[in-house]
Amino acid sequence: MAGFDLSAAVPTPEEHFFLEEREIVYLERIHELSKRHPVNLLVAGKQGCGKSTLVRQFAARNSRPMATFQIGILSEPGQLFGEHRLKEGETYYQKFLFPQAIQTPGCVIHLEEINRPEHPKALNMLFSVLAEDRRVWTDELGLLQVAEGVVFVATLNEGDEFIGTEMLDAALRDRFYVTLLGYLPAEIEARVLELKTGIDSADALTVVNVANQLRGNAQEPITVSTRHTLMIAELISVGASVKEAFINSLSVSKDVLESILLSLHIQLGQTGKGNGLRYRSY
Ligand SMILES: Nc1ncnc2c1ncn2[C@@H]1O[C@H](COP(=O)(O)OP(=O)(O)O)[C@@H](O)[C@H]1O
Ligand SMILES: [Mg+2]
Repeated sequence: MAGFDLSAAVPTPEEHFFLEEREIVYLERIHELSKRHPVNLLVAGKQGCGKSTLVRQFAARNSRPMATFQIGILSEPGQLFGEHRLKEGETYYQKFLFPQAIQTPGCVIHLEEINRPEHPKALNMLFSVLAEDRRVWTDELGLLQVAEGVVFVATLNEGDEFIGTEMLDAALRDRFYVTLLGYLPAEIEARVLELKTGIDSADALTVVNVANQLRGNAQEPITVSTRHTLMIAELISVGASVKEAFINSLSVSKDVLESILLSLHIQLGQTGKGNGLRYRSY
């Protein structure tokens, strides 16, 4: 990553990102605190609920550079910092973006999927930069000190399937401020779909209502993320019916879907005769 100017990597804000008022105030306080010393923030929530977007938005709104690192794929401690490579029979050390990021004042450092590194020891060197003295020693690069104003934001997927088995190490969690992000209330999520995909407000609300029924289904709840309701709304924006869009986006049975649509008094919009199956050459 030599020559890459990280200080210029300020993300552009996303136009239609909604957050609870008190979360916005909280993020402003984190920004404020980081003027005294580097800060660690942990954002937990279900997949597709807006964690990554929140991190990007925090950087954008405060004109901070940002760099993202996948922690979930790390298998050894030094891997974030660089690696030894071979060129024309000679080995050399290739420094990665991470050392540069921690030395960039005000940088927002997004640590993705911090709950599931491939190897437990992979977090050891990261631990040093998150700890109070904010410095880490590497044989290749010497002593690295975290720059002023740096904010580390770790995100972790806290779906039902992870609880109990993939909990974050207590000592690591102890070093973070936390926030738990949930899905948006129905009318706000519908508004997001409308604004981002251009579908009308009635369809948007139907998509969200159906999604919420699936999320709350007592027998077998299905995770329908905001990412996914957006995908469904996009299909509708190019002509799909609500029913088609759900069937083509989720592995949900038609029976379950139809009973939900019926319970919401939604016209199924079935056209044609018989079983409605029509074929033509493609
Ligand atoms: N609160 C929200 N307001 C607007 N869009 C949202 C919100 N939450 C999620 N989205 C949209 O859903 C998609 C997935 O969000 P993302 O941040 O990648 O989720 P996560 O990192 O939690 O898996 C993005 O396109 C994002 O813009
Ligand atoms: Mg994400």
